[in-house]
Amino acid sequence: MKKLIMAILLFDLTAGLLFLGLWEQQRQETVSAASISGGAKDMQDSTEKNGKQSGNAESSAESPGRGSRDVAAGEMTEKKKIALTFDDGPHPFYTAELLDGLKERGVTATFFVTGANASLHPDVIKRMQDEGHLIGNHTYSHIQLTKKNRETFKKELVKTNQVIEDITGVEVEYVRPPYGSWDKSFEEELNMIPVLWTIDPLDWCSGNVACITERVVKKAGENEIILMHDYYDTSVTAALKIVDELLEEGYEFVTVDEILFE
Ligand code: NI
Repeated sequence: MKKLIMAILLFDLTAGLLFLGLWEQQRQETVSAASISGGAKDMQDSTEKNGKQSGNAESSAESPGRGSRDVAAGEMTEKKKIALTFDDGPHPFYTAELLDGLKERGVTATFFVTGANASLHPDVIKRMQDEGHLIGNHTYSHIQLTKKNRETFKKELVKTNQVIEDITGVEVEYVRPPYGSWDKSFEEELNMIPVLWTIDPLDWCSGNVACITERVVKKAGENEIILMHDYYDTSVTAALKIVDELLEEGYEFVTVDEILFE
């Protein structure tokens, strides 16, 4: 009798241990499956984010080595964003020269063009759009808003939007008012967003490339908006030097919308 009881107890114990073992194994499998799918999701998120930040295919194609290494290591390093903006163009020669240089470097910028220059060089406007740059309004004739010319100023904005939209097929959202003179009520009336600047190297009055470059590079910081003009040979040369130096410092050039809304 004692032997029978012992045998039953032993059987229960074995069955219990066996069950416990199976349960533990099952639990571990569930846990590891969960962590794998979680990890895959993180990876996907950062890939999407990276794609968005790169702005266009051009710029991500430019540095495939760095991007893929970051993803493989599982640690996306956030780059400091900075925006280059160019006013007054398109210029018949210098804007194309600038676009060539930006393309070579896989960098996008924002161009605030006048309606008059845009209608003279629609091919350049189209090229800006095709190469991923953002195009904004800088009035038709580079008029400054005063207390007396509100309606004329507004008409110039509307006319310039039309010129740009006829070329690109895209609604113009951003405006850089010449000399920074602005009336907030235009924002609702025209559904437009004014874009000022945080770094002004006064490139239009200095023919000194080294001086313009140094002024910008010294002041550069995250989310700064640099004001330049694609209307001077020296500005184009300086802008490309600025790009080279700031890329070296780990900056990522973005269009202004990415700085204003992210
Ligand atoms: Ni201007």
